[in-house]
Amino acid sequence: MPLIRAQGKTIECEIGANLRQVLLSNGVDVYNNAAKTINCHGLGTCGTCAVEVQGAVSEMNRREKTRLSLPPHSPARGRRLSCQTQVLGDVSVTKFDGFWGQGDRPVWTAESSGQFRD
Ligand code: FES
Repeated sequence: MPLIRAQGKTIECEIGANLRQVLLSNGVDVYNNAAKTINCHGLGTCGTCAVEVQGAVSEMNRREKTRLSLPPHSPARGRRLSCQTQVLGDVSVTKFDGFWGQGDRPVWTAESSGQFRD
């Protein structure tokens, strides 16, 4: 079974599991600040669940590509919408700052639970 490393935790999940659902159900902060309450709850439209993922995950679907092509996101940053991402193997996840997680400073990493916060 795949292992997800995020916010200093190591979480086991089923192959094909939804990344956002696994992270939230294990107490990982997928959203920054007000986005915790103002988000699309996994529909792939708000863009606030964006994370950086290294490892084996599903290809981007059309909805995810579309949302990540719109500011403040940029395809060049290589972020993924956790709500549209299926876990296919071991992965490491990093959350960046900004309402949408679009920033350049890590909020938490695979190894760290968040000493990067202001
Ligand atoms: S929760 Fe809104 S895009 Fe993922």
